[in-house]
Amino acid sequence: MLRVGSNARDMSPFIKLASKSELPPDNEAKEFTVGDKVICVANVNGTITAMDNVCLHRGGPLGQGTIEGDKLVCPWHGWQWDPKTGEAAHNAAAKVAVYPLKIEDEDVLVEL
Ligand code: FES
Repeated sequence: MLRVGSNARDMSPFIKLASKSELPPDNEAKEFTVGDKVICVANVNGTITAMDNVCLHRGGPLGQGTIEGDKLVCPWHGWQWDPKTGEAAHNAAAKVAVYPLKIEDEDVLVEL
């Protein structure tokens, strides 16, 4: 059973991010381009979340990172991020945007 890890609000403009079949497998992350944005989608034990793809350290591509425990690890210098809150593990004040997701039939929708 696929779960989305952030609260989807009703009445908001959601746009298609991907098909369900394109989502990363358990404990992997993947980049998706939506319009002019690149989104990092993380799958932590079946919970899917979406966050901004740009690491606040030096701009590393978070969607090319790895999942360790419940954290996403930036591929460039190893900063760890919480995919549910967007907070850096070592400093909660460093925070990337997290986007609500919802699943409709075979589509995964994101609100940017
Ligand atoms: S760019 Fe992400 S840890 Fe340095």
